[in-house]
Amino acid sequence: MKYKYVAQVDNKDCGIAALSMIMKKYNTNISLSKLRQLAHTDLNGTTVLGLTKAAEYFKFETKVINANENFLEDNTFEAPFIVHVVKNEILAHYYVIYEITKNHILVADPDSDVGIFKMKKEDFYEQWTGIAMFIFPSLEYTPISLKENSFKKFFPLILEKKKLVVITFIAAIIVLIIQIASTFYLQKIIDVYIPQKMNGTITIISLGMIIIYIYQQIFSFIQINSMNQLSQSLTSDIVLTYIKHVLKLPMSFFSTRRTGEIISRFTDVSSIVDAISSVIISIFLDMSMIIIVSFFLLRQNMLLFCLILLSIPVYAIIIISFFRPFKKLSTDAMQANSIMSSSIIEDLNGISTIKSLGVEDERFSKIESEFGDYLNKEFKNIQTRYVQMALKTVTNLILNVVVLWTGSYLVITGKVTLGQVITFSLLISYFLTPLENIINLQPKLQAAKVAYNRLNEVYLVNGEEINKKKSYTNNLLGDIQINKLSYSYGLNDEILSDITLQIKMNSVTCLVGPSGSGKTTLAKLLVKFYDARHGEILLNGFSLKDIDIGTLRQFINYLPQDPYIFDGTILDNLLIGAKEKVEEDELWAVLDIVEIKDEIKKMPLGLQTSLSVENTTISGGQKQRIALARTLLTDSKVLVLDEVTSQLDLLLERKIVNNLVNIQHKTIIFIAHRLEVAKKSDKIIALSEGKVIEQGEYKELIDRKGFFYSLIHAENKIDEENCK
Ligand SMILES: Nc1ncnc2c1ncn2[C@@H]1O[C@H](COP(=O)(O)OP(=O)(O)OP(=O)(O)O)[C@@H](O)[C@H]1O
Ligand SMILES: [Mg+2]
Repeated sequence: MKYKYVAQVDNKDCGIAALSMIMKKYNTNISLSKLRQLAHTDLNGTTVLGLTKAAEYFKFETKVINANENFLEDNTFEAPFIVHVVKNEILAHYYVIYEITKNHILVADPDSDVGIFKMKKEDFYEQWTGIAMFIFPSLEYTPISLKENSFKKFFPLILEKKKLVVITFIAAIIVLIIQIASTFYLQKIIDVYIPQKMNGTITIISLGMIIIYIYQQIFSFIQINSMNQLSQSLTSDIVLTYIKHVLKLPMSFFSTRRTGEIISRFTDVSSIVDAISSVIISIFLDMSMIIIVSFFLLRQNMLLFCLILLSIPVYAIIIISFFRPFKKLSTDAMQANSIMSSSIIEDLNGISTIKSLGVEDERFSKIESEFGDYLNKEFKNIQTRYVQMALKTVTNLILNVVVLWTGSYLVITGKVTLGQVITFSLLISYFLTPLENIINLQPKLQAAKVAYNRLNEVYLVNGEEINKKKSYTNNLLGDIQINKLSYSYGLNDEILSDITLQIKMNSVTCLVGPSGSGKTTLAKLLVKFYDARHGEILLNGFSLKDIDIGTLRQFINYLPQDPYIFDGTILDNLLIGAKEKVEEDELWAVLDIVEIKDEIKKMPLGLQTSLSVENTTISGGQKQRIALARTLLTDSKVLVLDEVTSQLDLLLERKIVNNLVNIQHKTIIFIAHRLEVAKKSDKIIALSEGKVIEQGEYKELIDRKGFFYSLIHAENKIDEENCK
């Protein structure tokens, strides 16, 4: 094809799909997921700067210009290039421009609904933001192909299930042989037994046939059963590998994708399994059926067999001409489905916000229109399949008529018997069905390829390197040292810059600062949810880079700002991730520390009270305390507690903080808006706009009357005002 085309996998991928089209022109083939990482694509899509960085990574040179219509009219540049547009006045999007003629522009829209199309110049100018990006190979450029895009890797899974494949195959062959035998039974009745009035033989043979038919159904059951087992175990293999992979992906994966999008890819698995099982059936069964049936057909009559052969090209044309439409239709339907299910899942997650804003109707109409879109696409998909089926059936029926027509002529001229013609006509379907299955493999494989591409975009993201590095389990105890650390999400400005600080072993530190100053980000870097851009974090002198993630997260426990309560009882929730043996006394002692012991004791079911994700049985503050207790029950030597007392009243907060600072042999890092916590800490670190502004003891910082003092002052002032 003259123009390279790459479809976006979801609607945030338009920029990198456009980039991929240009790179393909220069024979560089890179998966979208890799480009996504390099271009720092997130929930907002990809920035032009991101595209530039990704292109430069592969030794392309880039030139970004902000131009107007005259520029395109000049025509002195070389297509293809990427342009930034705003579609339908809201959607920021990228196109690739392939050609500019007098009145039109040939545009490739990464949205596969649209594809490559000719656009009127005035329409284009309306959408164009003026940004154009030229990408061409630099002197050091060499083409690279990193696309591991073949779902052949699933086939070895089948080989592990040889036994099931063999059983299916043998059962199917027996069923087929019985089917063929039954057509000959009919032939004999018509040609021999009836004309010769062999009543006795007819009875014996008919009784025999009844027994044979019963066996046929038994074998048919065995065949279907083992086939289902095969596809179920394939599904579970693929789904479980996927879930395992997803759980091990780094945080950056989750923060740049919609949850619904990740979940919806599970549905893709079924079409992959369907394709794999169909391939096996076709290769083993349909092929052998065609060969066996051809043998019998040929023996019946050569001329009639040639008629069947003539119909094959017609069949093939009907099926092949539908390949392209099917591909587009199945991608469209699948994407629409995933958009819709993402919305439903997200709305259910945010149901309390939706209700409190009273926007149920707005959210419903969004889902309604997405659902309508999905139904439309699915309808088109099914409609097209029926059109194809009708064409195939007509061909089939015509073939039957022609065979009977020619056959009757042959019977009249005495070349074949009536029984032979009838057997022949019955056998045709045993020839055509497997033939159709084989040709039909193509759309199935295509749907599977689309599904696989979507699944693969997730597979190609590398998991966190759990267990790959050394685990200095016993050596991590010591001070935490942070040197010149900086971090930015994506390609944006630095959220943390040049942070240098030290946290002494078994001390209590308090990280304060205004909202958005980077406290949570710093905590997440400590447990390696994200990797630092510059600088380093050392635990007892060992760099975080060299420490195995599993060990690190056992050593440092980060309790997030919005802790998660799992479905299960209070006890289950307390023991998730806890150290191996927790004695009952110890459990209650911890519940005492977080000041929830009495409340739990008062509950009718005590520790067995069930909690659920959408919890309504306990309060927000109780949830916070249970999560805190869960953290205290781990073996971790360092606890990073992000706003753990934010939902508690002042008195309770004071008690819990007092209890926590008295814990021996643990390093505690509080992140707090409430300066109450700061007073109790050995050291305070004040952050503002990603920088350490001040650090020191409480008294020292108050005396200094600097940034921390002004924070405290502000709080006191607000308190005083509130009291007035
Ligand atoms: N996943 C993310 N992607 C992009 N930007 C982010 C992400 N998470 C946080 N930020 C940005 O980083 C900055 C610091 O956020 P952070 O959560 O570290 O602040 P914080 O000090 O913990 O604030 P708060 O006290 O409100 O919890 C904010 O400006 C925020 O917009
Ligand atoms: Mg925070």
